Amino acid sequence: MDRKAMKENAGKAAVDKLVRDGMKLGLGTGSTAITAVRYIGGLVEQGALNNIKAIATSFQTELECEKRRIPLYSLNSPEINGSLDLTIDGADQIDHDHFCVKGGGGALFREKLIAYASKTYAIVADETKIVDMLGRTFPVAVEIIPESRVFVCMELAKLGAECVLREAVRKAGPVVTDHGNLLLDITFKSIAGLVYPALLEEQINHIPGVVENGFFTKKGPHAFIAREDGTVDIWD
Ligand code: A5P
Repeated sequence: MDRKAMKENAGKAAVDKLVRDGMKLGLGTGSTAITAVRYIGGLVEQGALNNIKAIATSFQTELECEKRRIPLYSLNSPEINGSLDLTIDGADQIDHDHFCVKGGGGALFREKLIAYASKTYAIVADETKIVDMLGRTFPVAVEIIPESRVFVCMELAKLGAECVLREAVRKAGPVVTDHGNLLLDITFKSIAGLVYPALLEEQINHIPGVVENGFFTKKGPHAFIAREDGTVDIWD
């Protein structure tokens, strides 16, 4: 089975198991989470899913919801009132503690806000995303305010991180996030021994100028992991 089909399997499995009529739903970003958004859109169109209220984690997801006529709200709107029943999102990497690295698509700030505002949190991924140790092979995104770039890189180096400013494709200069900020992609390749994601998530966020980082360790998500043989493992 190819990866596209695996992503669709993960998205469908999560929606079938967790999504119900009337829910306030956070909808994730990236090529796997979008399969869940499209599947939800199909159910809404068929009348098989009713009265949902959705929050998008990125501009990409907002556009997809508009296209699928999924009713969109803001986290601040009275109908949502700052809390969600469920969020379904993708991940760049997931380890066996259900800790994740996210932000490959640059949407980590709103993704974390919405994840942490949700009663239930689910990650959809294919089995290539499973790792023994986060932060080594796939960069962890750090969203920063532009003025803090050089200072934050120096502080991250003290934590053992190697830092690269994310450059845009088909636009000269850096990627600018949905919130007007910059992204640093950091790795901890040179740390001998273990990388501690839960500690790093807090340490990085204590650096002035950092808006958010792509370690997700606080929510203990359910995970729907699509296998190449067509099955989906559910980690509760
Ligand atoms: C977006 O910023 C990310 O957190 C995505 O959820 C993550 O990069 C997974 O994307 P894919 O499903 O496209 O691999």
